[in-house]
Amino acid sequence: MDIKVSASLLGADLSELGTEAVRAKNSGADWIHYDVMDGKFVENISFGSEVQKSIGKKGNFFMDTHLMVSRPDKQLDYFIKGGSDLITFHIESDSDADHTVNMLHQAGIAAGIALKPSTPVESIYPFIEKLELVLIMTVEPGYGGQGFLNYTLPKIKQIREKADELRPSLMIEVDGGINMETAPLVKKAGADVLVSGSYIFGAENMREAIQKLKEK
Ligand code: DX5
Ligand code: ZN
Repeated sequence: MDIKVSASLLGADLSELGTEAVRAKNSGADWIHYDVMDGKFVENISFGSEVQKSIGKKGNFFMDTHLMVSRPDKQLDYFIKGGSDLITFHIESDSDADHTVNMLHQAGIAAGIALKPSTPVESIYPFIEKLELVLIMTVEPGYGGQGFLNYTLPKIKQIREKADELRPSLMIEVDGGINMETAPLVKKAGADVLVSGSYIFGAENMREAIQKLKEK
């Protein structure tokens, strides 16, 4: 599988979200990573579905929505209407995971489940065969610009091996602290979608930075 880069808008100039999404796409980002925080599942609050809809008017983006919210089942409709192509919710949230995945599929949206750094990979095994993506958090959810947690690397390898057995098409996304130094480590472990915020939006040359992340 080719490596994809999903540009996390949390790392962008937040007063220029539409323009920043266009800049990321034109610089080679495959997806736009849209981080939703509800002030409950995580303390921070980011942006909601109305903002997402406005960004979507600025271009044709693949919207990779990451819900860091306590009741994703109650939020899905908003973010489906907001223009999401893929929605990822947390296994640690208070929604029934199986039901939430079914709701997404019924709406024709790809489904992902995210795990916090300390959540064991086994927790998503019951759902793996029906998922399009698993997101391994490589920082604690809540903020952009944090340092990569090395102890998450074995989890990436473990889920890749399990997926090769049960769900070969499963995409493995990593999120948090991805840059030129950490990208080779996660790719070697088996990640195929790299979320990056501060590294690419802060780069002098965004196109080059994205290219570096994708290098085999
Ligand atoms: C953290 C978010 C990440 C974050 C990534 O809660 O889920 O998507 O914005 O940002 P960087 O690449 O700066 O770690
Ligand atoms: Zn994210």
